[in-house]
Amino acid sequence: MRGVPLQELLNEAVRVCADGLNAELCKVLEYQPQDNRLLMKAGFGWHEGLVGVATVGADMASPSGYALHTGKPVISNHLENEERFRTPELLLVHGVRRAINVILQGDGTPYGVLEVDSRSPGEFNEADITFLQAAANLLGMAIERQRHEASLQAALDYHKVLVNEINHRVKNSLQLVAAMINLRAGAAGDPTEVLREASSRIAVIAQAHERLTGSSDIARIDLAAYLGATCKDLAHQMNDCDIEFTAPASIAMPTDRAVRIALILNELVINACKHGFRKGAVRVWVTLKRSEPERMRLVVRDNGQGLPPGLDVANASTMGLRVVTALVQQMGAKLRVETSSAAGTEFVLDCPILAPEA
Ligand SMILES: Nc1ncnc2c1ncn2[C@@H]1O[C@H](COP(=O)(O)OP(=O)(O)O)[C@@H](O)[C@H]1O
Ligand SMILES: [Mg+2]
Repeated sequence: MRGVPLQELLNEAVRVCADGLNAELCKVLEYQPQDNRLLMKAGFGWHEGLVGVATVGADMASPSGYALHTGKPVISNHLENEERFRTPELLLVHGVRRAINVILQGDGTPYGVLEVDSRSPGEFNEADITFLQAAANLLGMAIERQRHEASLQAALDYHKVLVNEINHRVKNSLQLVAAMINLRAGAAGDPTEVLREASSRIAVIAQAHERLTGSSDIARIDLAAYLGATCKDLAHQMNDCDIEFTAPASIAMPTDRAVRIALILNELVINACKHGFRKGAVRVWVTLKRSEPERMRLVVRDNGQGLPPGLDVANASTMGLRVVTALVQQMGAKLRVETSSAAGTEFVLDCPILAPEA
């Protein structure tokens, strides 16, 4: 019972049970809840080709169905005169005269029924029930072990898939970091500031990993929660800046794309806080919306002094806007900006949620 594959065990069990009860036929029936029938999983003494194919009804009018649903052993010693049950076709065809059925119990739901049948006259008795039920109980344990092993195997398979996906994610993230460092190489700027902004970009990517911890689907991420967390991190990091974030309950987005959106958000919010100041704290409003069927819209607005006159966002040579422009292009998104020294600056990013079909 420890090591033998279940089918072999069942095959052996039907042979032993027929033998033990001095009968010609025996079968293990597995319950198929979807059509309320019992399928022959193992058989001894039956015509060729029935195992895995033949079924009997599992309704209360069949002896096996009765045993299954009530859990009580059923003896029918005179099938031809039986009034409680109808005789299943399978038994008629094989000339069965008497039958004995006991339940095969699993841990939770019953597995099915163990049935011994005979063509000879004579009677099954209480001792036969005791024997057969004991055999069924042993089999039940083996079946349970098998089910348990199958679910462990499924968990293991799932983990293998997950580890692969995680490796893939980590690789993508590191590539993104490397690409941004490359973009930066050679450009001028205050080194402290440069490193601080680089570290905030890496933190944005790390935040995605954080949010995916414990998730069963790491290929997708909830954009609303992710951007919310990014804004929270930024609020910590930027002084004199008040960031307000509004978003719908959730937007599931492919993780690679969501990370890019978060990187854009990071640049825009840092800029708003850094360059937008007038007097006192800058306010930044970040709004995420779902728009036409599969698109999202992200608005980053500040009440600062507005962009310097003549600044061409799409062709700027500075790092932050170059990162933004590159990411916008990669995603097939659109970015427009409205700015004035009176009203501040508003960036509107409009982006398909899913990657365009390759
Ligand atoms: N929200 C904003 N308000 C005012 N000026 C901005 C804003 N966003 C960007 N700018 C201007 O655009 C310039 C380029 O930004 P960016 O490419 O991020 O470089 P950096 O932030 O390193 O200066 C900034 O130096 C700033 O003058
Ligand atoms: Mg910047």
